[in-house]
Amino acid sequence: MTPSFAFPCFLLIVALFQFTAFSSSSEQPAVVCHRDERLALKQFKESFIIDKHACAGSYPKVDSWGSEGVDCCSWDGVECDQMTGVVIGLDLSGACLYGSINSSSTLFRLLHLQKLNLAHNHFNHSAIPSALGNLSMLTYLNLSSSVLSGQIPSEISKLYRLSSLDLSSVDVSSPVPSVLANFSSLKTLYLDGCGLQGMFPLATFQLPRLETISLSDNSNLTGYLPEFNSSNQLKFLAIWHTGFSGELPASIGNLNSMEYLELGSCSFRGLVPSTLGNLPNLKFLDLSINFFRGSVPATLGNLTRLNYLDLQGNQYFTGFIPPELANLTKLTHLDLQQNKLQGSVPSSIRGLQKLEYFNCDYNRLGDILDVDTFLELKNLQNLFLSWNHFYLVSRNNSNSTGAQLVDIGLRDCHLREFPYFLRNQRRLQLLDLSSNNIEDQIPHWMSKVSVETLSFLDLSNNSLTGFDDFPVVLPWSKLQFLKLDSNSLQGSLPVPPLSTVFYTISNNSLSGEIPHQLRSASSLFVLDISQNNFSGNIPLCLSNSSKYLSVLKLRSNNLQGPIPSGWSSGNRLRMIDLGRNKLQGRIPKSLMECRMLEHLDLGNNRIRDAFPSWLGSLPELNILILSSNAFYGTIGDPTSSNLAVFPKLRVIDLSHNRFNGTLPSGYFEKWISMASLDGKNSQAAYMDEISDMLINALQVSRSYSYSMTITNKGTEMQYPKIIRTLAAIDFSCNSFEGEIPESIGNLKELQLLNFSNNNLVGGIPKAIANLNNLETLGLSRNELEGRIPLELSSQLNFLEVLNLSYNHLTGLIPQGQQFETFESSSFEGNPGLCGKPLLRECITNSGSLPTPSSEESGSLGGLDWKVILLGYGCGFLFGTLIGHVVIKKKPACFLNTVSKTPATRQRS
Ligand SMILES: *[C@@H]1O[C@H](CO)[C@@H](O)[C@H](O)[C@H]1NC(C)=O
Ligand SMILES: *[C@@H]1O[C@H](CO)[C@@H](O)[C@H](O)[C@H]1NC(C)=O
Ligand SMILES: *[C@@H]1O[C@H](CO)[C@@H](O)[C@H](O)[C@H]1NC(C)=O
Ligand SMILES: *[C@@H]1O[C@H](CO)[C@@H](O)[C@H](O)[C@H]1NC(C)=O
Ligand SMILES: *[C@@H]1O[C@H](CO)[C@@H](O)[C@H](O)[C@H]1NC(C)=O
Ligand SMILES: *[C@@H]1O[C@H](CO)[C@@H](O)[C@H](O)[C@H]1NC(C)=O
Ligand SMILES: *[C@@H]1O[C@H](CO)[C@@H](O)[C@H](O)[C@H]1NC(C)=O
Ligand SMILES: *[C@@H]1O[C@H](CO)[C@@H](O)[C@H](O)[C@H]1NC(C)=O
Repeated sequence: MTPSFAFPCFLLIVALFQFTAFSSSSEQPAVVCHRDERLALKQFKESFIIDKHACAGSYPKVDSWGSEGVDCCSWDGVECDQMTGVVIGLDLSGACLYGSINSSSTLFRLLHLQKLNLAHNHFNHSAIPSALGNLSMLTYLNLSSSVLSGQIPSEISKLYRLSSLDLSSVDVSSPVPSVLANFSSLKTLYLDGCGLQGMFPLATFQLPRLETISLSDNSNLTGYLPEFNSSNQLKFLAIWHTGFSGELPASIGNLNSMEYLELGSCSFRGLVPSTLGNLPNLKFLDLSINFFRGSVPATLGNLTRLNYLDLQGNQYFTGFIPPELANLTKLTHLDLQQNKLQGSVPSSIRGLQKLEYFNCDYNRLGDILDVDTFLELKNLQNLFLSWNHFYLVSRNNSNSTGAQLVDIGLRDCHLREFPYFLRNQRRLQLLDLSSNNIEDQIPHWMSKVSVETLSFLDLSNNSLTGFDDFPVVLPWSKLQFLKLDSNSLQGSLPVPPLSTVFYTISNNSLSGEIPHQLRSASSLFVLDISQNNFSGNIPLCLSNSSKYLSVLKLRSNNLQGPIPSGWSSGNRLRMIDLGRNKLQGRIPKSLMECRMLEHLDLGNNRIRDAFPSWLGSLPELNILILSSNAFYGTIGDPTSSNLAVFPKLRVIDLSHNRFNGTLPSGYFEKWISMASLDGKNSQAAYMDEISDMLINALQVSRSYSYSMTITNKGTEMQYPKIIRTLAAIDFSCNSFEGEIPESIGNLKELQLLNFSNNNLVGGIPKAIANLNNLETLGLSRNELEGRIPLELSSQLNFLEVLNLSYNHLTGLIPQGQQFETFESSSFEGNPGLCGKPLLRECITNSGSLPTPSSEESGSLGGLDWKVILLGYGCGFLFGTLIGHVVIKKKPACFLNTVSKTPATRQRS
């Protein structure tokens, strides 16, 4: 009895003693701080500005210094030795210090310091002071996130007592000093996000006391993992997003104490050693985004304490999901996406009762999969099974007591109907059922599913025909992202709720007028209702009431009437695509209010207007498509008048109109985006904005990696298909006359140039040979004469498609190089041309022209579509631009073409 009493009593005495020492400081102190140290602290404080911006979420500790009395041992953040009164600890993390620091700082007079924490201050990019090396008693040093920069000074090697060093988020931008491997007392080392370079000193991993080493996010740091022996104490190893490479040593299985192993986003290759299964304490394992091959070792099933397993993004991971993984009963996060795993998801997965996140998107998994298995995992929130070969089934009595999911990705799962279990889902945020075989109407019960929470709904690429008895405005009050493209939807346009920012419903069979209720969808950022049968006028609300609208796509409908006017000032439109409708009248001047406009497509309408040179002052316009309308008159010359010059234009399609007069030589001198790469890089910012927006929208639903996938793969279906760096001019099928100006040779970035079907005369200017990025050149069906410049064959190294047919060109076709790839159709209809590929040989005695031959019809079979379109002579640009193959486009002047040459162009 006595001993068990004595022990607590002893503790009490110690506690009393300490209390006395502490509380007496305000009276006659037992130990008071030394005067010189007090002055050093005071001067240290005074060398900084106290800036609240430098310490988000913290408070200026040093403010109270001095007011708490002369005993600096009682100052906030200061710790003194109880016996001697010297300052042994200074914790000024997040103390709002702002200003420079160097080795003359009075801080370095505190020679007894054992612990120094200056993290989360702002030292204004000062170098790490070498005088730190004078604080030889230091065991703990933390300078993280303190806006220091420059290499780690070699003097730091004097700190041989260091047990903890944290320099994370210090901008070191240099190699790690090898002396690091000499810190034999080191237990904890944090060097994350330091811009480290070069090779990490291997021996550091073998320091006898080392337990924690974190080097993540140093993309230029290279290194290997060494052999480990069982005396190693490592518990925590993080080298995420570094240049570490090589194979994982089998001896990694000797790290008995290991709890946290984060090796993602490195360059490791080889097999995953099965010895990883020998780490009994492992809780966190991340092997994602490396080059591991082979199969997932079954021994991972031994890691019964594991709660986080990320194996995503190892493109050579094959084989089956080992059923042993089901032994990981503590697992909450299992990410297998973007590998090449085969087989099925083992049904034993129902053993993972703690699972919250499961993702196997983008594998080669298949088989019939009962989704209800997952619902038995009561904690499951995020379920991603997309982009595999699953045949998903859901029982018709799915249990309402099953998991309440937050995110469900079932893209491409051969679903034939809306899975039954969705009826019971009350807190969904993300639902992706795209690219399945769901037919018929969206069932009425869907209108009650997660109405308060759903923010992302993708039903695109199914065979849906409509909404069964839904309210006029769709019921999900938080819906931000709605994708219904490529279904068989009929009837009028479904109206998204107010919250929606992204709405695409292209490629359906919707009809009627664009409903006025759409006016209330004023948060829209993207609206794409293209490829439907909408008729009537474009409602004014689209031009004058959307504050945020950035992308407006109404193309390929039956819209009539004028292009709406009243575009409101300050609008944010970047893309307006009204192509392929029946719009009439002129282009309204109020389009000038769209100051951010990058992409304007009015092609294939019935617009009757002069060339809108006034659009030339839109500062961002880089794509202008006016093809196949009734535009008329001359283009004008910005050098002889004060016309604005379309400063960023890189794609212009005026084909198939009634423009006349000479080619606009002055513009060719001014279109710098077509002349130099610098200009050309000004590219579609709306695409970046859409990507950002998607990431944000999806991050909301806490599935970051999935959102990246959607962004990468999902939007690719629509917008990024526009070739961002294309530079192109298509003026074909008009009545331009006069010569081709030499100034065309300025536009060196042009990949596509088409002047076919005009009345151009004179020779082919040599300057065209300067356009050495040209892939497509069309000059057919003009009145051009003279020889084909030899330079065309020697300098246009990327030329794939050439059409010079039906002119009055003469002489030998340049031989060799790029010209060897063209067929006779490129040259036919020029009775004076001779040499290969025409059958007509040149008569060496020049002067007498060869006789025309009727055998020069080129074979059209086997040529790619670009050639075929070029054969029509007009307007192939749209197809190249948008990525749709528009072989069907047959402009009216095609008929002329055909009638001129009945023998050669019969295919369509
Ligand atoms: C921070 O550095 C900048 C640039 O060197 C300098 O102009 C400024 O005065 C410094 N601020 C402080 C508080 O030292
Ligand atoms: C260190 O900083 C102080 C005050 O900021 C300055 O007066 C001194 O010249 C600096 N010393 C060195 C060696 O840069
Ligand atoms: C640090 O130590 C070196 C010699 O070891 C000495 O020359 C220097 O003055 C010291 N610096 C300070 C700030 O005490
Ligand atoms: C990596 O090194 C390259 C080349 O030296 C440099 O441009 C880049 O900024 C470095 N990246 C980081 C994160 O330090
Ligand atoms: C690990 O698992 C394998 C089978 O998956 C088993 O044969 C082995 O004995 C296990 N090792 C340990 C240490 O439990
Ligand atoms: C692990 O899983 C396998 C197959 O699922 C099973 O046979 C084995 O008994 C499990 N091992 C442990 C330790 O639970
Ligand atoms: C419903 O789920 C619970 C718990 O997961 C289970 O015990 C029960 O058998 C299920 N009922 C049906 C009809 O599937
Ligand atoms: C261009 O066409 C218009 C009619 O659309 C005509 O009035 C005008 O004279 C033509 N100009 C030239 C230069 O041919």
